[in-house]
Amino acid sequence: MSAYQSTQYAAVDDYNHNYSNNLAQRQKAASRRSKMIIIGSVAALAVLIAIGVGVGVSVSKNHKTSSKSAIASSPSSTSVPSSASSSNSSGVVQQTDPNDPSTFIKNPALKQSFYGIAYTPYGSQLPTCNNTLEEVITDIQLLSQLTTRIRLYGADCNQSALVLEAIKQTKVDMKVFLGNYPAADDAGVAYARQRDLIQNALTTYGADHVAGVTVGNEFILDYLTANGGTTLDPNGDVGNIGAAILLPNITDTISMLSGMGLSSIPVGNADAGSYFNTKILSAVNYGMANVHPWFASEAIEDAAGWTAEFFATTNVAAASALSNKPTMYIAETGWPTKSSSAAAESDGPSNASVANLQIFIDTFVCQANQNQTGYFFFEYFDEGWKDVQFGGVEGWWGLFNADRTLKNVTIPSC
Ligand SMILES: *[C@@H]1O[C@H](CO)[C@@H](O)[C@H](O)[C@H]1NC(C)=O
Ligand SMILES: *[C@@H]1O[C@H](CO)[C@@H](O)[C@H](O)[C@H]1NC(C)=O
Ligand SMILES: *[C@@H]1O[C@H](CO)[C@@H](O)[C@H](O)[C@H]1NC(C)=O
Ligand SMILES: *[C@@H]1O[C@H](CO)[C@@H](O)[C@H](O)[C@H]1NC(C)=O
Ligand SMILES: *[C@@H]1O[C@H](CO)[C@@H](O)[C@H](O)[C@H]1NC(C)=O
Ligand SMILES: *[C@@H]1O[C@H](CO)[C@@H](O)[C@H](O)[C@H]1NC(C)=O
Ligand SMILES: *[C@@H]1O[C@H](CO)[C@@H](O)[C@H](O)[C@H]1NC(C)=O
Repeated sequence: MSAYQSTQYAAVDDYNHNYSNNLAQRQKAASRRSKMIIIGSVAALAVLIAIGVGVGVSVSKNHKTSSKSAIASSPSSTSVPSSASSSNSSGVVQQTDPNDPSTFIKNPALKQSFYGIAYTPYGSQLPTCNNTLEEVITDIQLLSQLTTRIRLYGADCNQSALVLEAIKQTKVDMKVFLGNYPAADDAGVAYARQRDLIQNALTTYGADHVAGVTVGNEFILDYLTANGGTTLDPNGDVGNIGAAILLPNITDTISMLSGMGLSSIPVGNADAGSYFNTKILSAVNYGMANVHPWFASEAIEDAAGWTAEFFATTNVAAASALSNKPTMYIAETGWPTKSSSAAAESDGPSNASVANLQIFIDTFVCQANQNQTGYFFFEYFDEGWKDVQFGGVEGWWGLFNADRTLKNVTIPSC
């Protein structure tokens, strides 16, 4: 969700992030977001068969499960300024030379076991933009002890350059999937702004640490939500109208990279697992699917297996049927550790808790590596602005707390 600025996840409204500081718009987006409760169950299979593959979403404003379907959604990803968390990375990571970020001292509790991790730098939401290179350096020092790949959601607030500068200064082995989080209804303003930031960052830092550029985050999910509802087929008329809005921007990014002599950088798209549009998937090198056992109301014991099964049968299968054979990744998967409201404490069978995050880590991470599944664990740290804007579990998906201390989890060695 997060707007392209970054955020993450799941969400929805990106555009809010960016281009708009308009409160009404943000509220509208938040309200839409709150409707996105997705439910999955065995019963869903019958529903899916009945209504056709690719459709099948259940949306319930109050967490009631009026219908069930296996949907992969994600927490909200809007980026809107928040007054919630303050950020202060000083003292979290020690360096033997205070002036050389590459001399950071490793934390033995961290193991480089994750394929990838979803990351939005603190303060990367418009209009505030109070991210800092110092904090991004701390984040990269920590993230590099867990993984060699991260993905961003957007490019606002100069986050692409900050991350690439931090990788340069820390000298870590890290590749980043940059992100451009466009809006459907701003005539391409947010898209162009972020494209230019990405272009500047690539001009400065080159492509050595860039694994891809992802154009669009939950674009079709959001477009359907705004224009008729998530029960609509992402490949139906409304979904295709949304795709036609996004496609020129994907093409533009491909041209931009080609014009820079960087056509080797893959261009992709990210959406909720049940909302890929075939025309979009046919136009990209890779697709990233949010696959969330929490939003599918899976029991924690079944969460890892469900995630693997959903991704294989829905996303990998769809991509392999296309002639361009886009590489598929899980864009987000994880488990929340807390809820800000009693109503969202449970997904039905299981609760938001650190203990359950541990179970998900223990049953998913090394197994997915072994299965050669490319995934981005959701997410690096708790994001206070999401808690303020969306409440519930939205702000509590981090491996780290907002202050960048590790939650009470044991990172496995794979
Ligand atoms: C960053 O900006 C947000 C939104 O205005 C604010 O709530 C937060 O306190 C700021 N953080 C810092 C560290 O200044
Ligand atoms: C950050 O935290 C350190 C250590 O707790 C403190 O000394 C410093 O004043 C804090 N800085 C800000 C900007 O809050
Ligand atoms: C973006 O960040 C980079 C790296 O810190 C910096 O060199 C550049 O001046 C920044 N650009 C803007 C517009 O802030
Ligand atoms: C981005 O997409 C929007 C909506 O389709 C379009 O108006 C705009 O011209 C596009 N911009 C570029 C540079 O592709
Ligand atoms: C799970 O959350 C519910 C509230 O939704 C609470 O009543 C229950 O005690 C919690 N279970 C555990 C094991 O924490
Ligand atoms: C890994 O593959 C096995 C065998 O297909 C499957 O049962 C399991 O669910 C997969 N797990 C993950 C986390 O990908
Ligand atoms: C951390 O989790 C372990 C179980 O894995 C538990 O025994 C311990 O009490 C927890 N510590 C804290 C501070 O919550």
